[in-house]
Amino acid sequence: MRRKLAAGNWKMNGTQASLAELDSLSLLHRQPTCDILICPPAQLLAPAQLRSGTIRIGAQDCHAERRGAFTGDISARMIADIGASYVIVGHSERREGYGETDNTVRAKAEAAQTAGLTAIVCIGETLEQRENGQAIEVLSKQLFGSLPDTSTGDNLVVAYEPIWAIGTGKIPAMEDIALVHAAMRTQLIDRFGKIGQHVRLLYGGSVNKDNATDIFAIADVDGALVGGASLKASDFSPIIKALEVSV
Ligand code: PGA
Repeated sequence: MRRKLAAGNWKMNGTQASLAELDSLSLLHRQPTCDILICPPAQLLAPAQLRSGTIRIGAQDCHAERRGAFTGDISARMIADIGASYVIVGHSERREGYGETDNTVRAKAEAAQTAGLTAIVCIGETLEQRENGQAIEVLSKQLFGSLPDTSTGDNLVVAYEPIWAIGTGKIPAMEDIALVHAAMRTQLIDRFGKIGQHVRLLYGGSVNKDNATDIFAIADVDGALVGGASLKASDFSPIIKALEVSV
């Protein structure tokens, strides 16, 4: 059985006052039946961890090296050191904005796993690739290149996030999400054997309270990676509830 995961990515949003949203979320979900994760910006990681309650805390990125002269970066060990348990790697905003390749993402994911964190590895196609019928091919290549050999059901989560669906209010047809998730599951089993059954697969891109139930009804969707709708507890909570009642 894969435990479902509702993950929120605050991106570059949030000040200390935003931690009140974390308190609310924890109060609204005192005994969650799925994992709930918030990935705040780096300056809030430690204070968020201190008042996380029933919510898990993760970072939005990490460096592949353990330490050193990398101005502005934080390492997976530093994230683990404050008690956080997850880190997102390979988000399309990092791949596109910072030129991160599959190799970079794999190195970061491996560093995360070595530090005892669960890596949430993101993959996603552009609108052009989708319209040209190349989505599955592009995604398979990204998945193959971005996953470390050290992956297990505990230290790896994969998030499928079509780039054109992020922050746009557009989502793929449910059949298309189903096709991608089935293809990812097959590829994981081909590569990792039984472990591939235990890796959680998230959908991300414009998930909200109105589309969550339909998305969570799709086979092999084990949760969501949510951006905008995770900033407020009142928006994120209905998504978490939809995930909890999904089968
Ligand atoms: P969105 O972002 O929910 O605001 O579309 C998703 C993401 O980038 O993870």
